[in-house]
Amino acid sequence: MPNRTYESNLQEKIVEYVVNILILAINYMSENKIPAGLAGVPVTTSSISSIDGEKGILKYRGFTIEELTEKSSFTETAYLLIYGKLPNQEENDLFTNDINLHRRLKYKMIDMIKCLPDNGHPMDATQALIAVLGMFYPFESKEFTKPEVQRLAITRLISKMPSIVAAYHRMRYGDLALQPKDDLDYSSNFLYMLSEIEPDPEQASIMEKALILHMEHTMNASTFSARVTGSTLADPFTVISSAVGTLTGPLHGGANEQVLVMLQEIGSVKNTEKAIDTKLKNKDKIMGFGHRVYKVKDPRAKILQKLAEQLFLKYGSNPLYDIAVKVEEVMEKRVGEKGIYPNVDFYSALVYDKLRVQSDLFTPIFAMARVVGWLAHWVEQMQDNRIYRPKAIYVGPTNNEYLPVDKR
Ligand code: SDX
Repeated sequence: MPNRTYESNLQEKIVEYVVNILILAINYMSENKIPAGLAGVPVTTSSISSIDGEKGILKYRGFTIEELTEKSSFTETAYLLIYGKLPNQEENDLFTNDINLHRRLKYKMIDMIKCLPDNGHPMDATQALIAVLGMFYPFESKEFTKPEVQRLAITRLISKMPSIVAAYHRMRYGDLALQPKDDLDYSSNFLYMLSEIEPDPEQASIMEKALILHMEHTMNASTFSARVTGSTLADPFTVISSAVGTLTGPLHGGANEQVLVMLQEIGSVKNTEKAIDTKLKNKDKIMGFGHRVYKVKDPRAKILQKLAEQLFLKYGSNPLYDIAVKVEEVMEKRVGEKGIYPNVDFYSALVYDKLRVQSDLFTPIFAMARVVGWLAHWVEQMQDNRIYRPKAIYVGPTNNEYLPVDKR
Protein backbone atom coordinates (compact mmCIF):
# COMPACT_ATOMS: atom_id res chain seq x y z
CA MET A 1 0.00 0.00 0.00
CA PRO A 2 1.81 3.26 -1.12
CA ASN A 3 2.28 5.46 1.88
CA ARG A 4 -0.22 8.30 2.26
CA THR A 5 2.41 11.05 2.24
CA TYR A 6 3.84 9.93 -1.06
CA GLU A 7 0.36 9.70 -2.59
CA SER A 8 -0.74 13.13 -1.32
CA ASN A 9 2.55 14.72 -2.43
CA LEU A 10 2.09 13.17 -5.84
CA GLN A 11 -1.47 14.55 -6.04
CA GLU A 12 -0.17 17.97 -5.00
CA LYS A 13 2.55 17.84 -7.66
CA ILE A 14 0.00 16.90 -10.35
CA VAL A 15 -2.31 19.77 -9.36
CA GLU A 16 0.66 22.17 -9.32
CA TYR A 17 1.75 20.94 -12.74
CA VAL A 18 -1.74 21.33 -14.24
CA VAL A 19 -2.14 24.81 -12.72
CA ASN A 20 1.25 25.84 -14.14
CA ILE A 21 0.30 24.53 -17.57
CA LEU A 22 -2.94 26.51 -17.38
CA ILE A 23 -1.09 29.69 -16.32
CA LEU A 24 1.44 29.25 -19.10
CA ALA A 25 -1.39 28.69 -21.61
CA ILE A 26 -3.16 31.86 -20.38
CA ASN A 27 0.14 33.77 -20.55
CA TYR A 28 0.85 32.49 -24.03
CA MET A 29 -2.63 33.47 -25.24
CA SER A 30 -2.41 36.87 -23.60
CA GLU A 31 1.15 37.60 -24.74
CA ASN A 32 2.78 36.68 -21.47
CA LYS A 33 0.53 38.96 -19.39
CA ILE A 34 -0.29 38.04 -15.82
CA PRO A 35 -3.75 39.40 -14.89
CA ALA A 36 -2.83 42.93 -13.64
CA GLY A 37 -3.38 43.21 -9.90
CA LEU A 38 -4.06 39.43 -9.86
CA ALA A 39 -7.58 40.32 -11.06
CA GLY A 40 -9.76 37.22 -10.76
CA VAL A 41 -6.87 34.97 -9.71
CA PRO A 42 -7.93 32.68 -6.83
CA VAL A 43 -5.35 32.53 -4.01
CA THR A 44 -7.24 30.34 -1.53
CA THR A 45 -10.65 28.92 -0.68
CA SER A 46 -12.55 30.66 2.11
CA SER A 47 -15.94 30.40 3.83
CA ILE A 48 -15.91 33.83 5.50
CA SER A 49 -17.70 36.07 2.98
CA SER A 50 -18.94 36.11 -0.61
CA ILE A 51 -19.65 38.81 -3.21
CA ASP A 52 -21.82 38.74 -6.32
CA GLY A 53 -20.32 41.67 -8.24
CA GLU A 54 -22.93 41.64 -11.01
CA LYS A 55 -25.94 41.63 -8.67
CA GLY A 56 -24.33 43.71 -5.90
CA ILE A 57 -24.68 41.13 -3.13
CA LEU A 58 -22.37 40.82 -0.09
CA LYS A 59 -22.82 38.05 2.48
CA TYR A 60 -20.93 37.30 5.71
CA ARG A 61 -20.96 33.52 6.35
CA GLY A 62 -24.09 33.32 4.19
CA PHE A 63 -26.00 36.14 5.92
CA THR A 64 -26.74 39.27 3.83
CA ILE A 65 -25.26 42.53 5.09
CA GLU A 66 -28.74 44.06 4.86
CA GLU A 67 -30.02 41.59 7.48
CA LEU A 68 -26.94 41.88 9.70
CA THR A 69 -26.97 45.69 9.76
CA GLU A 70 -30.70 45.56 10.53
CA LYS A 71 -30.71 42.90 13.24
CA SER A 72 -27.17 42.26 14.53
CA SER A 73 -24.57 44.15 16.57
CA PHE A 74 -20.86 44.82 16.07
CA THR A 75 -19.72 42.15 18.52
CA GLU A 76 -22.28 39.55 17.39
CA THR A 77 -21.27 40.00 13.73
CA ALA A 78 -17.61 39.88 14.76
CA TYR A 79 -18.25 36.55 16.50
CA LEU A 80 -20.04 35.26 13.37
CA LEU A 81 -17.18 36.23 11.06
CA ILE A 82 -14.43 34.85 13.28
CA TYR A 83 -16.05 31.68 14.66
CA GLY A 84 -18.32 30.90 11.70
CA LYS A 85 -21.69 30.93 13.50
CA LEU A 86 -23.99 33.35 15.29
CA PRO A 87 -23.30 33.09 19.05
CA ASN A 88 -25.92 31.91 21.53
CA GLN A 89 -26.65 34.25 24.44
CA GLU A 90 -23.91 32.87 26.68
CA GLU A 91 -21.28 32.96 23.90
CA ASN A 92 -22.31 36.48 22.92
CA ASP A 93 -22.16 37.75 26.53
CA LEU A 94 -18.74 36.15 27.09
CA PHE A 95 -17.30 37.56 23.84
CA THR A 96 -18.83 41.02 24.34
CA ASN A 97 -17.69 41.27 27.98
CA ASP A 98 -14.20 40.11 26.99
CA ILE A 99 -14.02 42.94 24.47
CA ASN A 100 -15.58 45.55 26.76
CA LEU A 101 -13.20 44.72 29.62
CA HIS A 102 -10.01 44.98 27.58
CA ARG A 103 -10.42 48.42 26.06
CA ARG A 104 -7.87 50.12 28.37
CA LEU A 105 -4.38 50.87 27.06
CA LYS A 106 -1.19 50.17 29.05
CA TYR A 107 0.35 53.37 30.42
CA LYS A 108 3.47 52.75 28.30
CA MET A 109 1.28 52.91 25.16
CA ILE A 110 -0.02 56.29 26.31
CA ASP A 111 3.57 57.42 27.00
CA MET A 112 4.50 56.33 23.47
CA ILE A 113 1.63 58.28 21.94
CA LYS A 114 2.99 61.40 23.66
CA CYS A 115 6.17 61.00 21.58
CA LEU A 116 4.43 60.60 18.20
CA PRO A 117 4.34 63.64 15.86
CA ASP A 118 1.06 65.53 16.38
CA ASN A 119 0.79 66.24 12.66
CA GLY A 120 1.28 62.63 11.59
CA HIS A 121 -1.53 60.67 9.93
CA PRO A 122 -3.63 58.67 12.41
CA MET A 123 -3.28 55.59 10.16
CA ASP A 124 0.51 55.66 10.67
CA ALA A 125 0.02 56.03 14.41
CA THR A 126 -2.47 53.14 14.39
CA GLN A 127 -0.14 50.88 12.43
CA ALA A 128 2.82 51.62 14.70
CA LEU A 129 0.87 51.24 17.94
CA ILE A 130 -0.63 47.90 16.92
CA ALA A 131 2.86 46.53 16.33
CA VAL A 132 3.82 47.84 19.79
CA LEU A 133 0.67 46.33 21.34
CA GLY A 134 1.93 42.92 20.23
CA MET A 135 5.09 43.43 22.31
CA PHE A 136 2.92 43.14 25.43
CA TYR A 137 1.59 39.74 24.27
CA PRO A 138 4.57 37.72 23.02
CA PHE A 139 3.55 34.30 21.70
CA GLU A 140 5.51 31.37 20.31
CA SER A 141 4.50 30.89 16.66
CA LYS A 142 3.63 27.24 17.31
CA GLU A 143 0.88 28.46 19.67
CA PHE A 144 -1.07 30.33 16.97
CA THR A 145 -3.36 27.38 16.27
CA LYS A 146 -4.44 27.20 19.96
CA PRO A 147 -7.98 28.62 20.42
CA GLU A 148 -6.99 30.25 23.74
CA VAL A 149 -4.06 32.12 22.18
CA GLN A 150 -6.24 33.13 19.22
CA ARG A 151 -8.99 34.34 21.54
CA LEU A 152 -6.59 36.53 23.52
CA ALA A 153 -5.15 38.15 20.35
CA ILE A 154 -8.62 38.59 18.83
CA THR A 155 -10.16 40.26 21.88
CA ARG A 156 -7.15 42.50 22.55
CA LEU A 157 -7.03 43.75 18.94
CA ILE A 158 -10.77 44.32 18.55
CA SER A 159 -11.09 46.01 21.94
CA LYS A 160 -7.97 48.17 21.83
CA MET A 161 -8.00 49.53 18.27
CA PRO A 162 -10.75 52.08 19.00
CA SER A 163 -8.88 53.11 22.16
CA ILE A 164 -5.66 53.58 20.15
CA VAL A 165 -7.41 55.68 17.49
CA ALA A 166 -9.23 57.82 20.07
CA ALA A 167 -6.15 58.27 22.28
CA TYR A 168 -3.94 59.41 19.39
CA HIS A 169 -6.67 61.76 18.16
CA ARG A 170 -7.16 63.48 21.52
CA MET A 171 -3.49 63.60 22.52
CA ARG A 172 -2.38 65.17 19.20
CA TYR A 173 -4.42 68.20 20.28
CA GLY A 174 -3.00 68.15 23.81
CA ASP A 175 -6.04 66.53 25.43
CA LEU A 176 -5.83 63.58 27.78
CA ALA A 177 -6.81 60.16 26.50
CA LEU A 178 -10.08 59.05 28.06
CA GLN A 179 -10.66 55.79 29.89
CA PRO A 180 -13.40 53.67 28.29
CA LYS A 181 -16.84 53.50 29.91
CA ASP A 182 -17.54 49.82 30.59
CA ASP A 183 -21.30 50.33 30.45
CA LEU A 184 -21.16 51.66 26.88
CA ASP A 185 -21.35 49.35 23.84
CA TYR A 186 -18.60 49.25 21.23
CA SER A 187 -19.76 52.16 19.03
CA SER A 188 -21.06 54.39 21.84
CA ASN A 189 -17.82 53.97 23.73
CA PHE A 190 -15.70 54.82 20.69
CA LEU A 191 -17.63 58.03 19.96
CA TYR A 192 -17.42 58.90 23.69
CA MET A 193 -13.64 58.28 23.79
CA LEU A 194 -13.21 60.58 20.79
CA SER A 195 -15.19 63.54 22.04
CA GLU A 196 -15.99 62.99 25.75
CA ILE A 197 -19.66 63.28 24.74
CA GLU A 198 -21.83 60.17 24.92
CA PRO A 199 -23.65 59.84 21.58
CA ASP A 200 -27.41 59.54 21.47
CA PRO A 201 -28.74 56.04 20.62
CA GLU A 202 -29.40 56.94 16.96
CA GLN A 203 -25.86 58.20 16.39
CA ALA A 204 -24.41 55.09 18.07
CA SER A 205 -26.70 52.79 16.06
CA ILE A 206 -25.65 54.41 12.77
CA MET A 207 -21.96 54.13 13.67
CA GLU A 208 -22.55 50.46 14.58
CA LYS A 209 -24.17 49.75 11.19
CA ALA A 210 -21.37 51.57 9.34
CA LEU A 211 -18.79 49.45 11.18
CA ILE A 212 -20.62 46.20 10.37
CA LEU A 213 -20.57 47.21 6.69
CA HIS A 214 -16.78 47.68 6.79
CA MET A 215 -15.89 44.45 8.63
CA GLU A 216 -15.12 42.07 5.80
CA HIS A 217 -14.91 41.90 2.01
CA THR A 218 -13.37 38.63 0.71
CA MET A 219 -9.86 38.91 -0.78
CA ASN A 220 -9.27 42.67 -0.90
CA ALA A 221 -5.70 44.01 -0.84
CA SER A 222 -5.37 44.43 2.94
CA THR A 223 -6.91 41.03 3.65
CA PHE A 224 -4.48 39.47 1.18
CA SER A 225 -1.66 41.22 3.08
CA ALA A 226 -2.97 39.77 6.31
CA ARG A 227 -3.05 36.25 4.87
CA VAL A 228 0.44 36.51 3.35
CA THR A 229 1.94 37.89 6.57
CA GLY A 230 0.04 35.33 8.65
CA SER A 231 1.24 32.49 6.40
CA THR A 232 4.84 33.17 7.55
CA LEU A 233 3.69 32.54 11.18
CA ALA A 234 4.32 36.17 12.11
CA ASP A 235 2.34 37.04 15.26
CA PRO A 236 -1.28 38.25 14.89
CA PHE A 237 -0.40 41.83 15.92
CA THR A 238 2.20 42.00 13.15
CA VAL A 239 -0.38 40.51 10.76
CA ILE A 240 -2.83 43.31 11.60
CA SER A 241 -0.14 45.99 11.48
CA SER A 242 0.74 44.79 7.97
CA ALA A 243 -2.92 44.90 6.90
CA VAL A 244 -3.37 48.41 8.34
CA GLY A 245 -0.43 49.59 6.23
CA THR A 246 -2.04 48.16 3.09
CA LEU A 247 -5.42 49.71 3.85
CA THR A 248 -3.83 53.17 4.06
CA GLY A 249 -3.50 53.64 0.29
CA PRO A 250 -5.99 56.00 -1.48
CA LEU A 251 -6.93 53.25 -3.94
CA HIS A 252 -8.08 51.14 -0.98
CA GLY A 253 -9.13 52.32 2.47
CA GLY A 254 -7.74 55.83 2.09
CA ALA A 255 -10.39 56.81 -0.48
CA ASN A 256 -13.07 57.84 2.06
CA GLU A 257 -11.03 60.77 3.35
CA GLN A 258 -10.33 61.83 -0.28
CA VAL A 259 -14.06 61.76 -1.11
CA LEU A 260 -14.69 64.60 1.35
CA VAL A 261 -11.76 66.58 -0.10
CA MET A 262 -13.18 66.09 -3.61
CA LEU A 263 -16.71 67.17 -2.64
CA GLN A 264 -15.36 70.26 -0.84
CA GLU A 265 -13.19 71.12 -3.89
CA ILE A 266 -16.19 70.81 -6.24
CA GLY A 267 -17.95 73.23 -3.91
CA SER A 268 -21.43 73.36 -5.44
CA VAL A 269 -23.98 71.33 -7.39
CA LYS A 270 -23.61 73.85 -10.25
CA ASN A 271 -19.86 73.14 -10.56
CA THR A 272 -20.20 69.36 -10.38
CA GLU A 273 -20.64 68.34 -14.03
CA LYS A 274 -17.73 70.48 -15.21
CA ALA A 275 -15.48 69.36 -12.35
CA ILE A 276 -16.14 65.66 -12.98
CA ASP A 277 -15.68 66.02 -16.75
CA THR A 278 -12.33 67.74 -16.17
CA LYS A 279 -11.20 64.99 -13.82
CA LEU A 280 -12.28 62.25 -16.23
CA LYS A 281 -10.55 64.02 -19.10
CA ASN A 282 -7.35 64.15 -17.01
CA LYS A 283 -7.76 60.42 -16.29
CA ASP A 284 -8.07 61.27 -12.55
CA LYS A 285 -9.75 58.55 -10.52
CA ILE A 286 -12.96 59.80 -8.92
CA MET A 287 -12.59 58.82 -5.27
CA GLY A 288 -15.32 56.56 -3.91
CA PHE A 289 -16.15 55.16 -7.35
CA GLY A 290 -15.29 51.94 -9.12
CA HIS A 291 -14.49 48.49 -7.79
CA ARG A 292 -12.56 45.45 -8.91
CA VAL A 293 -15.53 43.17 -8.20
CA TYR A 294 -18.74 45.25 -8.17
CA LYS A 295 -19.95 46.36 -11.60
CA VAL A 296 -23.08 47.88 -10.04
CA LYS A 297 -23.55 50.20 -7.04
CA ASP A 298 -21.80 48.67 -4.01
CA PRO A 299 -24.55 47.31 -1.72
CA ARG A 300 -22.73 48.92 1.21
CA ALA A 301 -22.92 52.32 -0.53
CA LYS A 302 -26.69 51.92 -0.81
CA ILE A 303 -27.07 51.30 2.93
CA LEU A 304 -24.56 54.03 3.87
CA GLN A 305 -26.46 56.52 1.69
CA LYS A 306 -29.64 55.74 3.64
CA LEU A 307 -27.76 56.11 6.95
CA ALA A 308 -26.47 59.51 5.80
CA GLU A 309 -30.01 60.60 4.90
CA GLN A 310 -31.20 59.40 8.34
CA LEU A 311 -28.57 61.58 10.01
CA PHE A 312 -29.44 64.62 7.88
CA LEU A 313 -33.13 64.22 8.71
CA LYS A 314 -32.43 64.33 12.44
CA TYR A 315 -29.35 66.57 12.73
CA GLY A 316 -29.65 68.86 9.70
CA SER A 317 -28.58 68.50 6.09
CA ASN A 318 -25.10 68.81 4.61
CA PRO A 319 -24.69 70.71 1.29
CA LEU A 320 -21.95 68.23 0.36
CA TYR A 321 -24.64 65.54 0.13
CA ASP A 322 -26.39 67.33 -2.71
CA ILE A 323 -23.05 67.54 -4.52
CA ALA A 324 -22.46 63.83 -3.89
CA VAL A 325 -25.83 62.92 -5.39
CA LYS A 326 -25.02 65.08 -8.44
CA VAL A 327 -21.58 63.42 -8.76
CA GLU A 328 -23.30 60.04 -8.80
CA GLU A 329 -25.75 61.21 -11.46
CA VAL A 330 -22.97 62.59 -13.70
CA MET A 331 -20.79 59.49 -13.23
CA GLU A 332 -23.72 57.22 -14.13
CA LYS A 333 -24.09 59.10 -17.42
CA ARG A 334 -20.38 59.25 -18.20
CA VAL A 335 -19.02 55.85 -17.06
CA GLY A 336 -22.00 53.80 -15.87
CA GLU A 337 -21.72 51.51 -18.88
CA LYS A 338 -18.13 50.71 -17.77
CA GLY A 339 -19.51 49.43 -14.47
CA ILE A 340 -18.12 52.32 -12.45
CA TYR A 341 -20.49 53.09 -9.57
CA PRO A 342 -20.19 54.32 -5.96
CA ASN A 343 -18.25 51.98 -3.67
CA VAL A 344 -18.24 51.74 0.12
CA ASP A 345 -16.15 54.89 0.53
CA PHE A 346 -18.42 57.34 -1.28
CA TYR A 347 -21.21 57.82 1.26
CA SER A 348 -19.34 56.58 4.35
CA ALA A 349 -17.43 59.90 4.31
CA LEU A 350 -20.71 61.80 4.72
CA VAL A 351 -21.90 59.52 7.53
CA TYR A 352 -18.72 59.99 9.58
CA ASP A 353 -18.63 63.73 8.80
CA LYS A 354 -22.17 64.07 10.19
CA LEU A 355 -21.15 62.11 13.28
CA ARG A 356 -18.58 64.88 13.77
CA VAL A 357 -15.61 62.61 13.11
CA GLN A 358 -12.54 64.36 11.73
CA SER A 359 -11.86 63.22 8.14
CA ASP A 360 -8.34 61.84 8.77
CA LEU A 361 -9.98 59.36 11.17
CA PHE A 362 -12.22 57.86 8.45
CA THR A 363 -9.64 55.26 7.40
CA PRO A 364 -8.64 54.33 10.97
CA ILE A 365 -12.37 53.69 11.56
CA PHE A 366 -12.38 51.50 8.46
CA ALA A 367 -9.41 49.63 10.00
CA MET A 368 -11.15 49.27 13.39
CA ALA A 369 -13.99 47.47 11.64
CA ARG A 370 -11.88 45.50 9.13
CA VAL A 371 -9.67 44.11 11.90
CA VAL A 372 -12.52 41.61 12.39
CA GLY A 373 -12.29 40.36 8.80
CA TRP A 374 -8.49 40.28 8.90
CA LEU A 375 -8.60 38.20 12.10
CA ALA A 376 -11.20 35.84 10.63
CA HIS A 377 -8.89 35.26 7.65
CA TRP A 378 -5.88 34.80 9.97
CA VAL A 379 -7.77 32.11 11.94
CA GLU A 380 -8.80 30.44 8.67
CA GLN A 381 -5.20 30.61 7.38
CA MET A 382 -3.88 28.98 10.59
CA GLN A 383 -6.27 26.04 10.10
CA ASP A 384 -4.38 24.80 7.04
CA ASN A 385 -1.36 27.03 6.65
CA ARG A 386 1.31 26.97 3.95
CA ILE A 387 3.52 30.02 3.37
CA TYR A 388 2.50 32.08 0.35
CA ARG A 389 5.25 31.96 -2.25
CA PRO A 390 3.96 32.65 -5.81
CA LYS A 391 6.28 33.03 -8.78
CA ALA A 392 7.36 35.70 -11.27
CA ILE A 393 7.90 34.97 -14.98
CA TYR A 394 11.42 36.24 -15.59
CA VAL A 395 11.55 38.67 -18.54
CA GLY A 396 14.91 40.33 -17.75
CA PRO A 397 18.30 39.95 -19.53
CA THR A 398 20.19 36.63 -19.36
CA ASN A 399 23.95 35.88 -19.61
CA ASN A 400 25.17 39.46 -19.12
CA GLU A 401 28.94 40.01 -19.36
CA TYR A 402 30.63 41.88 -16.48
CA LEU A 403 32.58 44.82 -17.95
CA PRO A 404 35.16 46.79 -15.97
CA VAL A 405 33.89 50.23 -15.00
CA ASP A 406 36.05 52.04 -17.59
CA LYS A 407 34.41 49.92 -20.33
CA ARG A 408 30.73 50.64 -19.37
C1 SDX B 1 -12.07 49.69 -1.28
O1 SDX B 1 -11.25 45.14 -3.03
C2 SDX B 1 -12.10 45.49 -2.17
O2 SDX B 1 -13.02 44.76 -1.85
C3 SDX B 1 -11.85 46.87 -1.58
C4 SDX B 1 -12.93 47.39 -0.65
C5 SDX B 1 -13.03 46.60 0.63
O3 SDX B 1 -14.10 46.60 1.26
O4 SDX B 1 -11.98 46.04 1.06
O5 SDX B 1 -14.19 47.40 -1.30
C6 SDX B 1 -12.62 48.83 -0.19
O6 SDX B 1 -10.87 49.73 -1.43
C7 SDX B 1 -13.01 50.41 -2.19
C8 SDX B 1 -12.26 51.17 -3.35
C9 SDX B 1 -11.81 52.52 -2.79
N1 SDX B 1 -10.95 53.22 -3.83
C10 SDX B 1 -11.45 54.25 -4.53
O7 SDX B 1 -12.58 54.69 -4.44
C11 SDX B 1 -10.40 54.87 -5.46
C12 SDX B 1 -11.00 55.09 -6.85
N2 SDX B 1 -11.26 53.79 -7.47
C13 SDX B 1 -10.32 53.28 -8.42
O8 SDX B 1 -8.98 53.57 -8.14
C14 SDX B 1 -10.61 51.85 -8.85
O9 SDX B 1 -11.92 51.79 -9.19
C15 SDX B 1 -10.30 50.70 -7.91
C16 SDX B 1 -8.94 50.79 -7.32
C17 SDX B 1 -11.30 50.65 -6.80
C18 SDX B 1 -10.44 49.41 -8.71
O10 SDX B 1 -9.39 49.41 -9.61
P1 SDX B 1 -9.27 48.36 -10.82
O11 SDX B 1 -10.24 47.24 -10.65
O12 SDX B 1 -7.82 48.04 -10.96
O13 SDX B 1 -9.79 49.17 -12.06
P2 SDX B 1 -8.86 50.05 -12.99
O14 SDX B 1 -8.15 51.11 -12.19
O15 SDX B 1 -8.05 49.14 -13.85
O16 SDX B 1 -9.94 50.79 -13.89
C19 SDX B 1 -10.57 50.13 -15.00
C20 SDX B 1 -11.10 51.26 -15.87
C21 SDX B 1 -10.02 52.29 -16.24
O17 SDX B 1 -10.44 52.92 -17.43
P3 SDX B 1 -9.65 52.49 -18.83
O18 SDX B 1 -8.18 52.82 -18.62
O19 SDX B 1 -9.90 51.00 -18.99
O20 SDX B 1 -10.32 53.35 -19.88
O21 SDX B 1 -12.10 52.00 -15.14
C22 SDX B 1 -11.61 53.34 -14.92
C23 SDX B 1 -10.10 53.32 -15.14
O22 SDX B 1 -9.66 54.60 -15.55
N3 SDX B 1 -11.89 53.66 -13.50
C24 SDX B 1 -12.17 54.88 -13.07
C25 SDX B 1 -12.38 54.74 -11.69
N4 SDX B 1 -12.22 53.46 -11.34
C26 SDX B 1 -11.91 52.80 -12.48
N5 SDX B 1 -12.24 56.06 -13.71
C27 SDX B 1 -12.54 57.12 -12.92
N6 SDX B 1 -12.75 57.07 -11.60
C28 SDX B 1 -12.68 55.91 -10.96
N7 SDX B 1 -12.90 55.86 -9.64
